[in-house]
Amino acid sequence: MQTILVTGGCGFIGSNFIRMELEKYPELSIINVDKLTYAGNPENLADLKDNPRYRFEKVDICDRIEIERVFGSARIDAVLNFAAESHVDRSILDSGPFITTNIIGTQTLLDAARKFNIPRYLQVSTDEVYGSLGDTGFFTEETPLAPNSPYSASKTSADLLVRAYYHTYHFPVITTRCSNNYGPYQFPEKLIPLFISNLSNNQQVPVYGQGTNIRDWIHVLDHCRGIDAALRKGRVGEVYNFGGRCEMTNIALTKLLLKLLGKPESLIRYVADRPGHDLRYAIDCAKAEKELGWTPEYTFDRGIQETIDWYLSHQDWVGRIRSGEYMKYYAEQYGNRLS
Ligand code: NAD
Ligand code: DAU
Repeated sequence: MQTILVTGGCGFIGSNFIRMELEKYPELSIINVDKLTYAGNPENLADLKDNPRYRFEKVDICDRIEIERVFGSARIDAVLNFAAESHVDRSILDSGPFITTNIIGTQTLLDAARKFNIPRYLQVSTDEVYGSLGDTGFFTEETPLAPNSPYSASKTSADLLVRAYYHTYHFPVITTRCSNNYGPYQFPEKLIPLFISNLSNNQQVPVYGQGTNIRDWIHVLDHCRGIDAALRKGRVGEVYNFGGRCEMTNIALTKLLLKLLGKPESLIRYVADRPGHDLRYAIDCAKAEKELGWTPEYTFDRGIQETIDWYLSHQDWVGRIRSGEYMKYYAEQYGNRLS
C-alpha cells in the first residue's frame, strides 16, 4: 500500500495509529481527515508537521463535497474510518452529534469510497455493539448486536451500513471491534486518563454506582497493531474482534491507580450510576489470533505504568485540554458532586 486515508486521526487511537504506521512502513503516505471536534487535537501529531508522507485535511466526514475533493486528490489504497463521537456519557447528554457523525459520516465515506473505487475500507468499531455480558461468557464475532447506549446504537447503525454495502454492492469492507483502550493521548473524559489527572491534582475520582462494572482493557498500540493486521491480512466482508484478555472491575482499577500514584482511598467518590450502564464487556479474540496472527502484547502492569508516566510527564497537554469546553462538560456531567 502506498497511500491510506485515515479519518479521526487527531483523536486518541487515530493519532497512535498514524504514528505507528508511518514508522513501520517507510514507503507509506497518510492523509488524515479530521474535523477537529473537542476531542481532535492536532498537538497529538505535532511531531509529523513537516513529514512529507503526512497530510492533514480539516474536513467533516459528513461533508460530501469536501470528502469527494480529498478522495479525488490522490490515489488512495485504503480508507480507515476512526472518526466518531466516542464518549458514552456525552451521548446520554445529547445523542445528536453521535447520530450525525457516526451514521451519516460513515454513509458519506462509504459512498465516496465506492465512487472513487477505493480497494479497501476498514470500519473501526467497538465491542459495545454487542451490548452487555452477565457474569460469564465472551463476545465473539457471532454475538448478536444489542447496543444499549445512544453511542453504541450509532456505532451499530454504522456497522450495519458497512455490512449492507458489502452485501449489496460487493464493496470491499472489513470491520474491527475492540474493547476498552488505554494509553497516551486519550482525552481525559474517559476513566483512566480522567482518574490519573484528577488524582495527580489530589482531586476526587467519580466511580459510577458501586464500581462493580467490568471492562476488558487493551493497550492502544495492541489495538493499532490489530487494525494494521486486519487491513493487510483480513478477509473482505469479515468482522474481527480485539481485546486485551484483561478484565477488571472499575473499583479494582481505581484502587490500583490510587496505589500506583500513592494516593489515599478517601479520594474515591461513589456517584450516581451511568443510566443503562453495561455490566460487563469481555472479548474472545481467537479469530483475530488465528486468521491475522495477532495477539495482545502488553501486560496491563507494564501498560498502565507507562500510561501513568506519560500523563505525569505531559501535564501541559492535559492542562490545555482541561480548560474551556472541558470545564463546561465536567460541570454538566459531574455537577458539584466532587471536591
Ligand atoms: P476520540 O474521541 O479520541 O477521537 C475521535 C476523532 O474523530 C477526533 O479527532 C475528532 O476530531 C474526530 N471527529 C469527530 N467527528 C468528526 C467528523 N464529523 N468528521 C471528522 N472527524 C471527526 O476517539 P477514539 O477513542 O480515538 O476512538 C476512535 C474510534 O475507535 C471511534 O470510532 C471509536 O468508536 C472506536 N473505538 C474506541 C475505543 C476506545 O476505547 N477509545 C474502543 C473501541 C473502538
Ligand atoms: O468498549 C469500548 C468502548 O470503551 C469504546 O467504544 C468507547 O469509545 C470508549 O469510550 C469506552 O467506553 P466506556 O464507556 O467503557 O469507557 P469509559 O472510560 O467512559 O468508562 C469505563 C468504565 O468506567 C465504565 O464502566 C464507566 C466507568 N466510569 C467512567 C467514567 C468516565 C466511572 O465509573 N466514572 C467515570 O467518571
